[in-house]
Amino acid sequence: MKIFLDTANIDDIRTAAKLGVVDGITTNPSLVAKEGVQYKDRILEIAEVIDGPLSAECVSLEISELCEEARRVASWHPNVVVKIPMGKVGLEAISTLSSEGIKINCTLIFSVNQAFLAAKAGATFVSPFIGRLNDGGADGMILIRECATIFKNYPGISTEILAASIRGPRDVTDVALAGAHVATIPPNVLAQMIEHPLTDRGIDAFLADAKSYDPV
Ligand code: G3P
Repeated sequence: MKIFLDTANIDDIRTAAKLGVVDGITTNPSLVAKEGVQYKDRILEIAEVIDGPLSAECVSLEISELCEEARRVASWHPNVVVKIPMGKVGLEAISTLSSEGIKINCTLIFSVNQAFLAAKAGATFVSPFIGRLNDGGADGMILIRECATIFKNYPGISTEILAASIRGPRDVTDVALAGAHVATIPPNVLAQMIEHPLTDRGIDAFLADAKSYDPV
């Protein structure tokens, strides 16, 4: 499973990039707004740090404006994947843009049928929002599992399931078990995945014991 970082914070991206485990980046308007920067500037800055798919979201609501915006955003950098919200306009835009070779991440997916339609329209990624489903009392993992089963049933579907709205390390394990191709995770969750108290205790014990001999 690939790991994308779900953030627009350039310091967090630089820190995580050094670990060598980050395959791409996802952003959204809320994440960019927190940074107080211009969207294009930040996307180009991120592209210098991570060489992988880089999702940048479109916000136009009308079909021709949305397609125009998506073409403009896609032209910023070859790694840009245009993020388009699910819906009638979104599906039409995905069909049009994918036939032009533009890569699309269909976002705000909350049902298997939405994911299936986005895949049929030609989305490169579909983004089911696990945490937001769980917040509402549903089980986001069922959505990932069912999408994975359906996509496997139809080898013609090459769309990747990008599990989004990840809230903790266990979510990452669960989406991997459920068959997601990608998990996009916030930087704090990546940090939590690295840590374990038994690792710390083990290091302390080895360091204490290593004092009994001369290091090479
Ligand atoms: O980027 C999309 C998604 O990961 C946002 O997650 O935590 O705002 O539900 P969240």
